[in-house]
Amino acid sequence: MQTNLRGRDLISLQEWTKEEVDTVLDVAFELKRQRALRIGHPLLRDKVLAMLFFYSSTRTRASFEAGMAQLGGHAQFIESRTTQIAHGDTAREIGEILGRYNDGIAIRNVDWGVGNRYIREVAEASRVPVLNMQCDLFHPHQSLADLMTILEKKGDARGRTIAISWAYAASYQKPISVPVDLSLLTTRYGMNVRLVHPPEFPLPVDVLEQARENARTSGGSFEVMDDFDAGMRGADVVYAKSWGALLTAKDETEGAEVAKRYTDWITDERRLALAAPDAIYMHPLPADRGIEVTDAVIDGPHSVVYDEAENRLHAQKAVMALTMG
Ligand code: CP
Repeated sequence: MQTNLRGRDLISLQEWTKEEVDTVLDVAFELKRQRALRIGHPLLRDKVLAMLFFYSSTRTRASFEAGMAQLGGHAQFIESRTTQIAHGDTAREIGEILGRYNDGIAIRNVDWGVGNRYIREVAEASRVPVLNMQCDLFHPHQSLADLMTILEKKGDARGRTIAISWAYAASYQKPISVPVDLSLLTTRYGMNVRLVHPPEFPLPVDVLEQARENARTSGGSFEVMDDFDAGMRGADVVYAKSWGALLTAKDETEGAEVAKRYTDWITDERRLALAAPDAIYMHPLPADRGIEVTDAVIDGPHSVVYDEAENRLHAQKAVMALTMG
């Protein structure tokens, strides 16, 4: 077990060794067990986490804030639009200054081509760990919760097949960070990973290469497919969500128009029936109900979306306790 994680940033899980990720999972399961038994674990007493949001959130904000309180510390919620960032506070200044007030800085900035760079600039200037609450490329705390959920529901992930599929959504052009991160993490855990999407919704080439390399090392597999039904066939885990045509469309409007060609990419009961009989359905939420997924699926017996959302809390507490303690 690799236990020396104090002071580490978590921007992409790919930058942590598998042994380090294993440690996070181990601690997350332990904290979940302790919470079930009402055993307090004030591991971050008197510590403060700054949570800087450039974008809306339900689960991420609520789970980081609850997690810090349960660890005996405090989380301060900072919305970028109520700061002086628009008036000139640079990423460097944010890293220097928030790093002097706090014991950790967590940031959500999903702006395409901006978010990851911004978080790295803050981390460069910060004296305390910087945690990625979702950027344009990665959503590491979501992926940790997802893997925790797969392990809980399926036991060993090795040899299990996951369909990480695009689905149609009308609400907005969602970031690619969930399918990117999940493709990278599940291939490290020996899973047979199918990345399924229409041709206009590819992930970056370097991500595909890294996922293939991860699969080679772990003994899993990684395949890119463009047929939703074929991707679902026999899958143990169905993880179907929308993302934007960020690599192919020139703007949001064009991306939304392209997506309209694929309104039949919905996870419904017919499609779910193609998966393994004991398949689980996962989604990070929020979902476009009736468009991305039917109520019968997301509220049905295969759905584990609430356990998945709960695991955000435990996974993040593990990361915070290990890096900020
Ligand atoms: N899954 C997720 O990150 O949810 P929020 O956008 O509500 O934080």
